[in-house]
Amino acid sequence: MVRHGTRSLRSIIFPFACILVFGMVTMFLLEYYIYMQFWHKRLEIANKRGQYNAGTEKHLNQNGFNRMEIKRSRILCWIPTSPTSLTKRAKSVKDTWGKRCDMLLFFSSKADSRFPAIGLNVREGRNTLFDKTRASLRYIYQHHLHDADWFLKADDDTYVIVENLRNFLTKLNPSDPHYIGRMFTTHGGYNTGGAGYVFSRETLRIFKKALDEGGCPRGGGEDTFVGKCLKSQGVRPVSTRDSSGRETFFQFRTAPQLIPGRPPHGFLSNYSFPLPYKNGPECCSDYPNTFHKVTPAMMYLLEYLIYRVKVKTIYKGTIYN
Ligand SMILES: *[C@@H]1O[C@H](CO)[C@@H](O)[C@H](O)[C@H]1NC(C)=O
Repeated sequence: MVRHGTRSLRSIIFPFACILVFGMVTMFLLEYYIYMQFWHKRLEIANKRGQYNAGTEKHLNQNGFNRMEIKRSRILCWIPTSPTSLTKRAKSVKDTWGKRCDMLLFFSSKADSRFPAIGLNVREGRNTLFDKTRASLRYIYQHHLHDADWFLKADDDTYVIVENLRNFLTKLNPSDPHYIGRMFTTHGGYNTGGAGYVFSRETLRIFKKALDEGGCPRGGGEDTFVGKCLKSQGVRPVSTRDSSGRETFFQFRTAPQLIPGRPPHGFLSNYSFPLPYKNGPECCSDYPNTFHKVTPAMMYLLEYLIYRVKVKTIYKGTIYN
């Protein structure tokens, strides 16, 4: 009777334990599978982001990463330079970020068919910078008004993350009068030249018309002059700081701005809109558009740091790039 009882107990417990163990193993495997799927998805996204950064947009379309049907803004980049800067500064632009522009034009006082640079009938020098800008924009208006939606002026010591700028501009309509850059509130409000400024097609049209009709006030620096000219036509700059108030267009050296506790440049603390502005890690956006005061050597370094450098991560005994 006792033996019989034990056996019947065992015959109940044994299948029950089997089911329990089987269930637990299944649950474990299922969870592991889901987890790995999730991990692979993340890696896939990270890889594709890497390709995106490398500027291989053909790849991008093949992989269907950019599924949202966003109209891609075309950017014409124009760089005022000089015969003596062609082989150094201008070359570093051409070798690095310049190749991501839909069209890249260099304007100099002398034509150079090999570089190539477009020759303008202007004298070189700081005081004649506005003449160069005026002549360049006339040239672009005459030859390339419909080849781009946006027209970026950048100096030959400005580095641009073209993809970020393009993404920034995608939210705006090039048929509206936009004037985008690093705005300071002095001189009635203007976008500073070194950080680069962008005209929409409509703004280029308005600027050209104002030049033709003699509507632009005379005098001042190149960038303040452009600001005054556009102001007379009712086109105003706007703040381009990100949603957390961080910088996206850098007029001054970026490195000192990143140092916590360091007092910001007088222009940044006095003439920024909207105030206040603080140095330190929160100075700077995760999606910066331009950097000014970049030497040719730094252009190549930025190119390497932004588009090539990867960080290896060891996770559960596997190395991920
Ligand atoms: C900014 O304001 C301070 C205090 O008024 C002044 O001392 C300084 O010269 C200003 N800096 C610039 C660049 O205007």
